Amino acid sequence: MDKNRRAFMGKVLAGTAGVATAFSLYAMKRTWDPLPSVISAGFTTVDLSPLKENELSIVKWRGKPVFLLKHGPDVTPNDKRDIVTTDGSRYTVVIGLCTHLGCIPEWKGSENKFKCACHGGEYNIYAENTFGPPPRPMDIPPFTIKGNSIVLGEEGPEYKKMMANS
Ligand code: FES
Repeated sequence: MDKNRRAFMGKVLAGTAGVATAFSLYAMKRTWDPLPSVISAGFTTVDLSPLKENELSIVKWRGKPVFLLKHGPDVTPNDKRDIVTTDGSRYTVVIGLCTHLGCIPEWKGSENKFKCACHGGEYNIYAENTFGPPPRPMDIPPFTIKGNSIVLGEEGPEYKKMMANS
């Protein structure tokens, strides 16, 4: 009888300890997880459908300007730099800061180039440096494609492939 009672008490104790452990782990996980506002703050989703060919759009992402430029059919595809959406449209998407000293270059649609007024740097339509002091192309932000939208800040398979080939 005493033996049965001891076994019963052992099971009750083990069950209580298990429930307490589960609650503790859940509480710790809640503490460690970033707040939802922090998670969403790092990502910016942009619908690319309304963009017009050869017209620069600028969105703000993590405090930086991001250039979005839709290519027309006359622009030669650049598989190393083009961002391609589900409908096959091609875009230049870059952080719009000159890689020389960080000025914001201007898009000159009539010349198909970006020009930096600070020291005369120039970039082609793919935001590759072509003239002056900029040491490298403008940076491509982490992204993923969802249909005809781009999510800035998320390293999707297209971004990883692009970085592996660059
Ligand atoms: S900051 Fe653009 S060329 Fe110097």
